[in-house]
Amino acid sequence: LLSSIAPETLFLMIVSKPGFERSPEELEVVYEELTFIKALSHLSTMVKRQLANFVKVEQYIHAGSVVFRQREIGVYWYIVLKGAVEVNVNGKVVCILREGDDFGKLALVNDLPRAATIVTYEDDSIFLVVDKHHFNQILHQVEANTVRLKDYGEDVLVLEKVDIPRGAALENSNSCNFNCGYSVMAGKAEKILEYVLETRIDALSDDISEIDLFVEDFILTHDAFMPANTVCNFLKSYYFRTPYRATRDSITDSCTEEVRCKKRVVQFVYIWCSMLKINFFLNPVTNSFVEELFCHVIDDRKRLGGMEEIMTRIGAIRTSRENMQLVLARHPAIVLDCGVLSARTPCPILPSDVCNQIIYLADTTCFVLPIRVDKTAEEICELSRRRMSFSAEPLKLVEVKSNGEKLIFSPTDRAIPTVLSLNSKLYVVNREEIPMLVPMEDQNGPTPTTHSSILHLIDSQELAHQLFLFHLQLLRATDSNELLYQVIGRESFPQSMPFNLDLLVRRFNEVQHWSTTEILLATEDNRVEILKKFIHIATMLVKNETEWFENIFYRAREYRDLLTVFAITLGLSHTSVSRLTLTWNKLPPATFKTFSELENLLDPTRNHRMYRLLVSKIATPYIPFVPLILKDLMFIHQGNKSFYNGLVNFEKMHMFAKIFRNFRQCKSHMNDTTDHQYVEPQSLIRNLRVIDNQKILIQLSYGIEPKTA
Ligand code: CMP
Repeated sequence: LLSSIAPETLFLMIVSKPGFERSPEELEVVYEELTFIKALSHLSTMVKRQLANFVKVEQYIHAGSVVFRQREIGVYWYIVLKGAVEVNVNGKVVCILREGDDFGKLALVNDLPRAATIVTYEDDSIFLVVDKHHFNQILHQVEANTVRLKDYGEDVLVLEKVDIPRGAALENSNSCNFNCGYSVMAGKAEKILEYVLETRIDALSDDISEIDLFVEDFILTHDAFMPANTVCNFLKSYYFRTPYRATRDSITDSCTEEVRCKKRVVQFVYIWCSMLKINFFLNPVTNSFVEELFCHVIDDRKRLGGMEEIMTRIGAIRTSRENMQLVLARHPAIVLDCGVLSARTPCPILPSDVCNQIIYLADTTCFVLPIRVDKTAEEICELSRRRMSFSAEPLKLVEVKSNGEKLIFSPTDRAIPTVLSLNSKLYVVNREEIPMLVPMEDQNGPTPTTHSSILHLIDSQELAHQLFLFHLQLLRATDSNELLYQVIGRESFPQSMPFNLDLLVRRFNEVQHWSTTEILLATEDNRVEILKKFIHIATMLVKNETEWFENIFYRAREYRDLLTVFAITLGLSHTSVSRLTLTWNKLPPATFKTFSELENLLDPTRNHRMYRLLVSKIATPYIPFVPLILKDLMFIHQGNKSFYNGLVNFEKMHMFAKIFRNFRQCKSHMNDTTDHQYVEPQSLIRNLRVIDNQKILIQLSYGIEPKTA
């Protein structure tokens, strides 16, 4: 029933009821909603879950309504859910607060009268409210449920009691440990890792599908606060931990304890490499740590009993290392060939792979330079210098976009070919030449005379299938770590560039501009047909399970490509296309209605709720709308510090990890559904020729339907 009601209405319905009447499912809906409210982003999961019981809703129909007056006694804390309010101090408006902001906390916290009068600034303003009693109680409880572990008087680990099980693994964990009811909120990086080893590892079997969420969160996010070499160093020191022996009798106990420490380390490394797969072995630090650990285990086996299990486990790690080494040693592949995604984009891209990049000089002559994807701007300049026998003057690497914008790369920038905009050109020039660089004619993309589309001749189902397969391949290559590098700042991870993510994002832009370009360049006779075709493709790519049964011939279950759905819908919603009233008027009403439904999916209100609702229902694998994932991560990153008081803010890492987990789940079961029917994507699908210059798109649009007076 819950899912059949419009999400907006559902949420308001639930929060209009008294807390005790809200069912567990309803509380989950409210909790989910609260996780996206800016004013609550600093609060822990537990506090938000508690708030879900107490938040109520207050609605004001007209702008100008007084919410409360200055000097009144404070009763509620308010969060703006919709609309806006004016904050009026002594008759003067001091600020406007909007969706996601909160007010009214001062009076509650300090037990003082209201410091301002609050008046609604927009019609239909809606607030979430928490009364003073619960507000104080929850804040008080936050402290009561927090355990602070100290070393020499300083906080080293802050734990929070978890009433609600965070995951099956936690519930079932039989490491019989008092810590199990606690989740890490913050801590020194080493302390967090030690806590992982001591509370979450012992009970784990070799089935890594049952990993404790805390271990998983640590592995998925440690790059943000503890580089791999620090993790390995700590693991090494933990491996060699010798327990304190109080008496002679306790020798056996301490031996067991010594072996247990070693076992934890090996088990942790086993989980780590099973989760990260090739990316674990791609990192020279973790790769060589496996061999180092193996040597220690061999040595210890001679002097300690109970090492067999550890030996088997390290053996399994080494076997997967050997398998991965074969992949890592593969022949370098071509990723981008003069800007075109190659037929078999490697999966994943390795640093040794190559882009055949066209390099331009200031006089517009050019040459093709094969560049390893991990080369820096400085190295590309140096390679060009050697190739062209330039003198020793300092060179700059400059991207010139189709709209004339210029971007000068800094010498240490990497992954340059994969971050270039669609119709950009890459120049190697000296500093004085930079002002002279202008876009060339061919950067405008195809023109009505050079463009000959065969799109209307290809079956929509075939196109949808081809797009899906190609994007699945790009998604499969992309690891969740790349999302982390992108959000935290790729310059902090020079060894691990998000090449695969670059291609996925680039592809999104490409498909978006493709749909706009194809409509604008279509002949008068074909335009409506092509518009229909794009809407048809997008609809096929978003079919849900129910429809699958009705459309079994479309094998819609295999076409869940939300990246393309969004790209096409955004492409067709571009002003240059959306203003073509005469074209849209010729669409059959049913197709027009379908398009409105697709546009609804793009609706950004309530934090893209329509999209989130859709993905909560569709089965994996599917291709997610990656720009939205990056936006969510950015929101978390900017709204929460990674460290406070010298401690890692692990609540933030839990939030990151939740998104990474979803991203990884999108790819799950991929092999079963698609491998056997892989079809080489057609060159039409790979090599989309597009116009990405906004000015030209608008000009073309006016050419089709002139401005009305
Ligand atoms: P409170 O005093 O409870 O009620 C009025 C609220 O307005 C106050 O809490 C703050 O949350 C909010 N507010 C925002 N800006 C100001 C400001 N400049 N002066 C006073 N209150 C402000």
